[in-house]
Amino acid sequence: MIELNYEVDKALSNLPERSRVMVVGEPDTGKSTFVALLARWFYTNSRKTAVVDCDVGQADVGPPGFISYGFVEHPVTSLKAVARTGSYLVGNTSPYGRLLPVVTGTEACVRAAERDGADIILIDTSGLVRPHAGVQLKCAKAGAVYPHLVIALGTPGLRPLTNHLKSLGFTVLSLEPLAGVRMKSIEERRENRVFRWNMYLKDARAFRLDLSRVRIYRWWAETHYVDVDTVPHGTVVAVPDPSRIGLQTPCVWITSENGPMVIAPLPQDYEPEIVWVTSYRLHLLGTQVTSA
Ligand SMILES: Nc1ncnc2c1ncn2[C@@H]1O[C@H](COP(=O)(O)OP(=O)(O)OP(=O)(O)O)[C@@H](O)[C@H]1O
Ligand SMILES: [Mg+2]
Repeated sequence: MIELNYEVDKALSNLPERSRVMVVGEPDTGKSTFVALLARWFYTNSRKTAVVDCDVGQADVGPPGFISYGFVEHPVTSLKAVARTGSYLVGNTSPYGRLLPVVTGTEACVRAAERDGADIILIDTSGLVRPHAGVQLKCAKAGAVYPHLVIALGTPGLRPLTNHLKSLGFTVLSLEPLAGVRMKSIEERRENRVFRWNMYLKDARAFRLDLSRVRIYRWWAETHYVDVDTVPHGTVVAVPDPSRIGLQTPCVWITSENGPMVIAPLPQDYEPEIVWVTSYRLHLLGTQVTSA
């Protein structure tokens, strides 16, 4: 297990009691592994630590297509071991064309973690850091959640972003990419998404939709109502989180002989009244996700 060096240890020890730390870097530089190291450090220093996972493609805390947060409940070595508390729907596995919901979702999850009593909020981000869209996304995110410390796993391609963040007044600690990191192939990234969805749906139940009561909307779209017969089997949808206003519970749309249903790990007595539909579609074999 890699240990944090003296410089990082000192920077973390100097943070205020309640702080937010954001980690940025190009793809495959070890961001998520580093956030897990930070999570373990704060946990073993007796701080109530939350992780906000803003990587909608390589999601660890919740299913892909959502920004999710959860609390660190043991000395983790991977973010996959952080149990999900709440999520915000983005509806795609790439932040391109979805920059606004990614920023809004990050802020919504940070606020929810604060309401849940987090001392420390660690923000893991995607590798979209350049060109223009990446700099915009990360500057908007930093502006929305105001991290006390940004840790940059620095490569030459990250410099425009770190310069921008510094010019905005953020404290940036630049480190080398994690030693030992390796590139994930497109295939491995796909497998990670499938694994993460199946992990999320492990305890899911099917809920029938009473079409005379339930309202079905397209997420963040001008056209509000959706013709239910046109929603494909396996579509990623969401319902309002029953215990957290402004957050959404991830679900999957199932077509059946008895009409449409959604599957999600929700309480048995939950009756969906609103369903938000996306254009992100999974392939299923029964209730097992085979492609995401
Ligand atoms: N010290 C290490 N030794 C061996 N493998 C490592 C080490 N650190 C990270 N890895 C592996 O390298 C890969 C990339 O690491 P990680 O997922 O943390 O990077 P990332 O920057 O978060 O990637 P992404 O851009 O996809 O979010 C992962 O498969 C991870 O398990
Ligand atoms: Mg990552």
